Amino acid sequence: GSSYGAGLEKGQKAHAVCVPFPAQGHINPMLQFAKLLHRHGFRITFVLTHFNYRRLVRAQGEDAVNGLPDFRFESIADGLPNSDNDATQDISLLCDATTKKCLAPFRRLLADLNNSSLGPAVTCIVADGGMSFTLDAASELSIPNVLFWTSSASGYLAFQHYHHLLERGIIPLKDMSDVTNGFLDTEVDWIPGFMKGMRLKDFPSWIRTTDREEVVLNYLIYEMKRAAMGSAIIFNTFDDLEEPALNALRRFLPPVYAVGPFSILSHHLLPSDSPLNTIGTSLWKEDDSCLKWLDDHNMKPHSVVYVSFGSITVMTDDQLIEFAWGLANSGYKFIWVIRPDQFQGEANIIPAEFVEETKGRGMMVSWTAQRKLLAHPAIGAFLSHCGWNSTIEGLCGGVPMICWPFFSEQLTNCRYACAEWGVGVELAGDVKRAAVEALIREVMAGEKGREMRRRAAEWKERAVKAAGGPHGGSTVNFNRVVNEVLLPR
Ligand code: UDX
Repeated sequence: GSSYGAGLEKGQKAHAVCVPFPAQGHINPMLQFAKLLHRHGFRITFVLTHFNYRRLVRAQGEDAVNGLPDFRFESIADGLPNSDNDATQDISLLCDATTKKCLAPFRRLLADLNNSSLGPAVTCIVADGGMSFTLDAASELSIPNVLFWTSSASGYLAFQHYHHLLERGIIPLKDMSDVTNGFLDTEVDWIPGFMKGMRLKDFPSWIRTTDREEVVLNYLIYEMKRAAMGSAIIFNTFDDLEEPALNALRRFLPPVYAVGPFSILSHHLLPSDSPLNTIGTSLWKEDDSCLKWLDDHNMKPHSVVYVSFGSITVMTDDQLIEFAWGLANSGYKFIWVIRPDQFQGEANIIPAEFVEETKGRGMMVSWTAQRKLLAHPAIGAFLSHCGWNSTIEGLCGGVPMICWPFFSEQLTNCRYACAEWGVGVELAGDVKRAAVEALIREVMAGEKGREMRRRAAEWKERAVKAAGGPHGGSTVNFNRVVNEVLLPR
């Protein structure tokens, strides 16, 4: 039927199908956004891959995941040959598989939802910008498809200009020595919307290849072109933070809305006793003992370092050991998230001497409730890989950062955090314990650290202004996306 464009019929409920890219850093913000839509009256069908659906159920419990009548989870195949193991963390395999394999099962799912007597027909799609196959399904049904890109707007602007770097012959690199010989220090001053002093080395890492056929690079160029077909594009950011990039994007894309930060918007729009709060966003079981540790010991404000490198970063044994001794030698208390799949080499190479030495002042957990932790007054610094979720969550907590970007647009986020927003220092080059120690001391108690904390507190205030009340820019934008784009007219 094509009654979708003619507004909701009497008694019909709006029904949004939300499709995150199959990785933790993408599922988190999409789930937060979906909850806000549900709160606004939408029925939600949240589509995971089979693999991640099972992980979510394991981490959150069957009841939490399937307990709400109007918030349903469904799953489709990710198209990987062996999708039952952690190889699904391989971004390049996932980009390739989702692009080629997911449209058919997604179409079938939509058809099933629309033929079901159980719920209302699907009225709109909100998809990760990296799941653009959904655009074909949306256009077949003549329903809107809002694309949600989960990185910073500035990182996205860089992705949008990948094809210009190709056309100018800047990439692919002539030789991998270009990565270290100073070539990447070249300033890029010909792209409107970037901060002053943006360099090639601040571009998302996929340009660091000599291979024109590199999978993720080409996937991104393809997805960036397809963005033109979206009904709107949304970001988990706020205008005040990234206005130049957002405005530059607005010149050549469908309507662009900054609707974040979600951690603040959710706080303001979802009542604390909402049943939606029972659905956690983590694919790993959260260990909250570190939060309890902070409270039980009545930790002083800004006295603890929080260390986490997100859901994808892997490190070598050497890097791990340098981080460990840097933390130990700093003398500060710390909470360190070490995922079971974080090592390239042998698991469990954490030195016993390190554990002994930091007894009572160091906590190691395999996964925790990061958003809560970053909002805790005891946290004084965030040693981070600069994933966008972590970066914006850190800003919302007013916490200064020590940045160790790993890949993708984390490099861009790091540059902005350090040189534009004034809230970060970069741990550059090979990880060395002395540098880790020095940066921790600087951020926790140095002059520069004090200034960074002041700036972070300012950004927190601005974030609250944008998303913490009914008249904030992000709240207004959220309502516009709902009313002008997502609700049938
Ligand atoms: C990736 C990319 O790095 C990021 O830049 C991109 O924009 C989205 O996908 P990831 O590397 O996992 O994500 O980092 P990040 O964006 O920081 O997301 C990690 C999420 O996991 C955050 O929301 C964080 O709160 C959460 N987390 C992390 C936990 O809930 N518990 C933990 O112990 C660690």
